[in-house]
Amino acid sequence: MNAEQLTQQAWDAYGRHHLRAGTELPDADRIRWALSNVGPGTEVLGPVTGKRVLDLGSGTGRHAAHLARDHGALVDAVDGSPSQHQRAVSAYGHLPGLRFHLADALEHLDSAESYDVIYAVNNLPFMPPREALTAVADALHPGGLFAFSVLHTTSDQRAPSTSVTARPETLRLRGGEDLTVHMYVLTPQLWEDLAVEAGLRVDQVITIDSPDDSNHASYRLLVTHRS
Ligand SMILES: C[S@@+](CC[C@H](N)C(=O)[O-])C[C@H]1O[C@@H](n2cnc3c(N)ncnc32)[C@H](O)[C@@H]1O
Repeated sequence: MNAEQLTQQAWDAYGRHHLRAGTELPDADRIRWALSNVGPGTEVLGPVTGKRVLDLGSGTGRHAAHLARDHGALVDAVDGSPSQHQRAVSAYGHLPGLRFHLADALEHLDSAESYDVIYAVNNLPFMPPREALTAVADALHPGGLFAFSVLHTTSDQRAPSTSVTARPETLRLRGGEDLTVHMYVLTPQLWEDLAVEAGLRVDQVITIDSPDDSNHASYRLLVTHRS
């Protein structure tokens, strides 16, 4: 089993843990690009009413539900973990304008019709970056928007890498065992270079730091368009 498959298994264990615990999450009223409530929100995507939108690695489906329910977007949401998919469908499967797909993100991108907008909140780092960015660019209409947030610095101050290699990171389960995921934690310059190589124009790179001074976690939000 390769690193991506092991990571997908860890996410499935994460989802099963929350299904067993009956974890309930409040509905989202904005996109949170990092784990905190600071930084820009849904407006980054521009107007999405009536547009074909893809949430890549949609997890519990909260952001996809927000876009369909509060903005009238036509949303496809794809996640590769059966348990995360189950959480999303049971919470939001009834919403009009929203379809959940249980599939690997890259396979979905290869087979789906083109999108106006694609976004990925904290999950591009779990996929091989060159393949993922190329598949995203190919799945966008010309001029379409792709926004994605990525981990930059961990809470214990581990810095990003200047080479395209995945490294192990810990996924903490409240009341359960820690899980290991493999992540591409790359410098913003490297993400930019990879995006441009894939055929995307990078418009903005936004820093989102934790609002808690004792937490060093920092994210970057990249806003791009298909050239
Ligand atoms: C950090 S969670 C983010 C969930 C969601 N975007 C959010 O903000 O709530 C990462 C999600 O990405 C999914 N994922 C990771 N690699 C994937 C892949 N190759 N294809 C599809 N989903 C994937 C995991 O199953 C997990 O649900």
